[in-house]
Amino acid sequence: MFVMLVSSLFIQSAQGQSTQYQSELDWTAKHQAILNGDAKNRDQNLRSKALLKEHARLTELRIVPDGEPGEPLKLIGRVQDPNGLPIEDAIVSIFQADTGGFYAWDDAKNGTMDEPNARLFGFVRTDSKGVFVIYTIRPGGYPRPLKSKTGDLWIPSHIHLTVEAPGFQTHQCASTCQLVFSDDARMTPYWQKWAKNGGQPILTPKRSPSGEWFCYYEITLMPG
Ligand SMILES: [Fe+2]
Repeated sequence: MFVMLVSSLFIQSAQGQSTQYQSELDWTAKHQAILNGDAKNRDQNLRSKALLKEHARLTELRIVPDGEPGEPLKLIGRVQDPNGLPIEDAIVSIFQADTGGFYAWDDAKNGTMDEPNARLFGFVRTDSKGVFVIYTIRPGGYPRPLKSKTGDLWIPSHIHLTVEAPGFQTHQCASTCQLVFSDDARMTPYWQKWAKNGGQPILTPKRSPSGEWFCYYEITLMPG
């Protein structure tokens, strides 16, 4: 009986390690498949995203595949409490459109803007300094305008971002924050006002000598 019990524990342990190892490889593969536009089952993608968020552990992440069209952008964020102290292990969720302004791999074909199934996305955790880094491209603005009484409204390019940390209120503006850019020609007075009223961050991109854009964004979470 004792031998059987020990064997059983050993097998469970070995299986546990094996399962964890294979799952990590699997999650990376699933992420890459979605980034590449190869993962075409929407429900599976949403389940994969939930798993990827649950197991997020990297503080730096590239959320575009090799060869993705667009201008490279490095987004550096720092999450802090109201006293300016860093918040470690906050989970940062991010997604955006491609240069054409589309989210999902089939948006252009279907005429949709499927944000939950966004192809370019990722989840990271902040390090001991509260910092995270995202490597991406500058997103395109939506390809179609919003219709309003005063005419067409062209939505500025933006990156969706949410920050969550235990003991703090979730950082979100409406559903997610939409980071917009000060140098975007679409940031008309209408959208400036929209950003101000909704607490949407307006980032000021700077360009390195090598041509890469970079932005810095400081996020303060309130105790929950
Ligand atoms: Fe959006």
